[in-house]
Amino acid sequence: MDEFSALSPESLRSLREELLKEYTRFQERGLKLDLTRGKPSAEQLDYSDELLSLPGSGDYRAADGTDCRNYGGLLGLTELREIFAPLLQVPVEQLLAADNSSLSLMHDTVMHAMLFPLPGGERRWVDVERPAFICPVPGYDRHFSICQKFDIEMIPVEPTADGGLDIDEIERLAASDPRIKGMWFVPKYSNPTGVSVTDRQAERLAAMPTAAADFRIFWDDAYSVHHLTDDQITIAPIVRLCEQAGNADRVFVFGSTSKVTFAGAGVSFLGTSPANLSWYQGHIAKRTIGPDKVNHLRHVRFLQDADGVRKLMERHRENLAPKFAKVRQILDEELGGTGVAQWTEAYGGYFISLDVLDGTAAEVIRLAKEAGIALTPAGSTYPYGNEPRDRNIRLAPSFPPVSDLDTAMRGVTICVKLAAVDWLLAG
Ligand SMILES: Cc1ncc(COP(=O)(O)O)c(C=O)c1O
Repeated sequence: MDEFSALSPESLRSLREELLKEYTRFQERGLKLDLTRGKPSAEQLDYSDELLSLPGSGDYRAADGTDCRNYGGLLGLTELREIFAPLLQVPVEQLLAADNSSLSLMHDTVMHAMLFPLPGGERRWVDVERPAFICPVPGYDRHFSICQKFDIEMIPVEPTADGGLDIDEIERLAASDPRIKGMWFVPKYSNPTGVSVTDRQAERLAAMPTAAADFRIFWDDAYSVHHLTDDQITIAPIVRLCEQAGNADRVFVFGSTSKVTFAGAGVSFLGTSPANLSWYQGHIAKRTIGPDKVNHLRHVRFLQDADGVRKLMERHRENLAPKFAKVRQILDEELGGTGVAQWTEAYGGYFISLDVLDGTAAEVIRLAKEAGIALTPAGSTYPYGNEPRDRNIRLAPSFPPVSDLDTAMRGVTICVKLAAVDWLLAG
């Protein structure tokens, strides 16, 4: 297909006529398709159905004899922590296993830091004038909602030209101002760009000088085992790197089995330095007597060990890879060579990040909605829902069946082209 920007106004107008016809035909089908949230499909959830019959009647004791039906054990079941310690690259004694959501661990960590000084910090964040977080963009909207809730200013950091992390800018910001208290970061197969941190970047994050003594990286390793190809990426062990750099307390690592076993009914993890861990434990001890150890035990029996997790993730990959391939195929076929869109190649995780022509993302999303395709709201991958260039759209291919994805993506590409042609004609 020709580059749209090279087309004459007459060619653009006749292309518009064609696209409008395609769009109307699509709209008339009265479809209802959804590419919004990165949820596992029902078939993926089926892989873990055995959990529903575990641990089994009369079989409720942990390896050390703990009766999992009873209170206690704030750190979670040791054998569960042993399974995930190598996967999250955190020493087992520094890894806490919790309940069903890593997002709630992130929320609570921010909340506790607002209300109680962190190790190394002199003041509560709530007493700091305009506390701020560094937010690499595009990023995960729910991270941004946490900052918004606590009135933490978000400072977006755009990727470098090759799509990678702008580590120079992050270093500059972190060193520039003591009110900058933290940073959100999805280090592997990131939401939504799929990018992973390089070893050198991880070393620099661990070692960079920060103006705030209580600066923390919220290292959200949500996709640590979620590979989509044979190029299985291993990232650097950030807890160890921080320790080696003399900044042991710099990082909180988060993870969960939401996209391993059951979404919202799995187990979650927080890994960090001994000082941070005892700070965190001290605070949660007031809100809970301990996590759901029955669910911990169930997960231990089902997953068995780190290899058990890897095998299960192979099944997820078999299910997901064709869906990602389908989305890519349609983007290639329909938008390749048009010059009005570019998209990421996902090696893992749950998303493809689609950049359309500047100034047209909101219009693409509106057109898609009117044709029965729900896309993630415009701007949601940016702090405050405000994307200055109005070009990023997060695609989540996991939930719909491949046939629906095919239809939905054909529809999306019509919308991308139509919005681009309109923008160029208005130009
Ligand atoms: C980057 C990231 N972190 C966290 C979550 C949510 O994790 P959980 O279900 O453990 O709360 C998601 C879900 O999409 C995510 O993409």
